[in-house]
Amino acid sequence: MPASRPKKPGDPLHPRASGPLRSFGRIKSRVIKPLQAALFDTLLPTIAVPDPAAGPIDPLALMPGAAQAWLEIGFGGGEHLAAQAARRPDVVILGCEPFLNGVASLLRHVDEGGLKNVRIHADDARAVVEALPDASLDRILILFPDPWHKVRHNKRRLISDVFALELARVLKPGGILRFVTDWKDYAEWALERLNRTPGLVWQANAADDWRVAPADHVVTRYEEKKLGDTAPLFLEFRREA
Ligand SMILES: C[S@@+](CC[C@H](N)C(=O)[O-])C[C@H]1O[C@@H](n2cnc3c(N)ncnc32)[C@H](O)[C@@H]1O
Repeated sequence: MPASRPKKPGDPLHPRASGPLRSFGRIKSRVIKPLQAALFDTLLPTIAVPDPAAGPIDPLALMPGAAQAWLEIGFGGGEHLAAQAARRPDVVILGCEPFLNGVASLLRHVDEGGLKNVRIHADDARAVVEALPDASLDRILILFPDPWHKVRHNKRRLISDVFALELARVLKPGGILRFVTDWKDYAEWALERLNRTPGLVWQANAADDWRVAPADHVVTRYEEKKLGDTAPLFLEFRREA
């Protein structure tokens, strides 16, 4: 890992950043149903991403024979991740989500769908990204991240210059980062930071490139709520060598 990586508490990459600078809200709301709760004891340990504090994580090693490795950050209820995993059984998909009801929901999808290619980190994605080797992911999906749109909360946004550098670091050359939001100011915020990140190249040539969902997009639970101030904006960046 680069010696220059910031490590001070308060930095979004610091392991304890989930304290004062949490990028997520509640980690639990409704009571988790007993059947889903049981999956935390039975299924989760068998498909958990290794503890990032224990050392580097090679994502392809998590599923021998995997053709690609993808990461979805903040999978919410996991509907999108489960649908992508069902479509692409050759891809190992790592999902990170600290919201326990969401983890319970994805565990149910994995169990019911018999999905073999999902790996879960039930906590902050930033620790996993920090543990990934350079150029180890084919695709990163950030779909409708918490908007934190009050100015005093902007610093909690997942996308920062520091994290954008990390995302670029872990993408393979030719790999894709897909960022989607239905908040106009977050789209502008993310575009500004991702566009100035060395190695990331925005793929849009015309308005439809950000207005029209990519062919393989699966509508998410949060997207259906239409809570933002704009139709979804799809920003795709390619990692150039
Ligand atoms: C607005 S929800 C969207 C959920 C889902 N992507 C969807 O579209 O339905 C944003 C999610 O990101 C998760 N999140 C926020 N910060 C995160 C982080 N640092 N690591 C992993 N997940 C995070 C939140 O817990 C929340 O479930």
